[in-house]
Amino acid sequence: MRTPIIAGNWKMYKTVAEGRELVRGLLAGLGAIADREVVVCPPYTALYPLGELLAGTPISLGAQELFYEAQGAFTGAIAPQMLRDVGCAYVIIGHSERRQFFGDTDTTVNRKLFAALASDLRPIMCVGESKPQRDSGQAEVIVTAQVRAGLAGVSVAQIANLVLAYEPIWAIGTGDTATAADAQAMHAAIRATLTELYGDATAQTVRIQYGGSVKPDNVDELMSQPDIDGALVGGAALKADSFLRIIHFQ
Ligand code: PGA
Repeated sequence: MRTPIIAGNWKMYKTVAEGRELVRGLLAGLGAIADREVVVCPPYTALYPLGELLAGTPISLGAQELFYEAQGAFTGAIAPQMLRDVGCAYVIIGHSERRQFFGDTDTTVNRKLFAALASDLRPIMCVGESKPQRDSGQAEVIVTAQVRAGLAGVSVAQIANLVLAYEPIWAIGTGDTATAADAQAMHAAIRATLTELYGDATAQTVRIQYGGSVKPDNVDELMSQPDIDGALVGGAALKADSFLRIIHFQ
């Protein structure tokens, strides 16, 4: 059985004060969540104070990005160990916005993934196709190639600490979610790739999140699909009531 994992990607939103308010709201409405895992990924500037607020609670802290070097003259970059230092358990790697605006490639994604694992951070590795790629029937080929390239060299033992997120680029922030059937088809293709790489028993243990306009009114249907094991949520994770409704999917 795979424990569902719901993660909020706050992107470039929330000051420290706003983040505190949101986290307090989440903790107040969370209730018992023994059968699911919850992660919030605030911007770097809010990680330390929110890590303090979340310590000892059922919500884990994640970062949205890291650099693969341990330290050095890399102006503006944050090292894996620095994220551990402020209480992060997870880190998003290879989000399409990082690929689009900050030069991430499958090669840097792979390096970052190893850097995260070496520092005991669990990567949430994002993959996804663009609209033209989907329209031309290439979505599965592109996405499974991203999975293979991102995971190059990752061992069976290491894959246990990794979460994948399928995020079709055209569905991110657009309100235009993939249908549950299309998302399930892609998740099944990703799992088939994992089976080729790691064998069926291991592939069955890896969690694959869906991301892209997940909302309170579509989360239940998405989560009812056999290969969808969680959600990576942007816009709807910025308000306590909508993120709580997503966390409490049926
Ligand atoms: P969205 O973002 O939920 O606002 O579409 C998802 C993501 O980019 O992780």
